[in-house]
Amino acid sequence: MARRVLVTGGTSGIGRAVAARFVADGCEVVVTGRRPETPEVARAIGATGLRLDLADRAGIAAVAEQVGELDVLVNNAGGFVGRAPSGPPDVDALAEHWERTLRVNLVGPALLLALLEPRLRRGGAVVSIGSIGAEYAGNPYSVAKAALQAWSVGAAERLGPRDVTVNAIAPGYVAGTDLWGGPVARERHDALVARTYVGRAGAPEDVAALAFFLCSPGARHVTGQTIHLDGGAHTTR
Ligand SMILES: NC(=O)c1ccc[n+]([C@@H]2O[C@H](COP(=O)([O-])OP(=O)(O)OC[C@H]3O[C@@H](n4cnc5c(N)ncnc54)[C@H](OP(=O)(O)O)[C@@H]3O)[C@@H](O)[C@H]2O)c1
Repeated sequence: MARRVLVTGGTSGIGRAVAARFVADGCEVVVTGRRPETPEVARAIGATGLRLDLADRAGIAAVAEQVGELDVLVNNAGGFVGRAPSGPPDVDALAEHWERTLRVNLVGPALLLALLEPRLRRGGAVVSIGSIGAEYAGNPYSVAKAALQAWSVGAAERLGPRDVTVNAIAPGYVAGTDLWGGPVARERHDALVARTYVGRAGAPEDVAALAFFLCSPGARHVTGQTIHLDGGAHTTR
């Protein structure tokens, strides 16, 4: 029987590559995205598309209702939410920025998994896309990713007895996605690449390959982990 897979944010970048990897394995894949052309983008890679903004809790409930039973959930959707307010501190603008960023990058994935947990089949897997930023920065995005990686450990403990693994991937700089809202300036690109041991940016397919492995039979004893995928930009021991 084909595995059923849900990838949030499957309309571009990493999520689209992850979805395509599971499609190539013969899985039934559903992807979500906010853009109106989500169904067409999904169809182009052999998946089904559903519109979803992770800041919309009714939308999350509706998607959870629609997808039915699942073998794999990839919590990939996320990113920077607007610009951090500049100038003299404005408590309303700051609160709005923090809350919107946490809602999309942390609360949305947590709500989605809470609603989908009863529908996850034994032998299933959950993978959430964190960030190298969790190790360094104190901005709302990086804090949300650090919390997402910590939350993932709790979910692993809860779902382990049901034979569902839960892990996070913390990518470093992955080029060729829409995360930065346009091409990354050459200087910034070079600086990010210089932080790696391997001398190159990550590709969406690098993340897809790791996500696919974490959901494969060879990874059934890997759970509760954050796996760093960054060419050596952040090392662990
Ligand atoms: N690229 C990197 O260097 C890098 C590094 C570390 C971590 N990451 C993480 O990797 C994940 C994928 O990012 P990416 O680089 O592939 O960027 P991307 O190309 O911008 O992809 C983001 C995906 O998430 C969806 N999305 C964004 N905001 C959403 C929201 N509020 N509600 C629902 N869907 C939303 C987008 O779809 P729509 O536009 O259709 O909504 C898109 O499919 C993100 O969680 C990001 O934080 C990326």
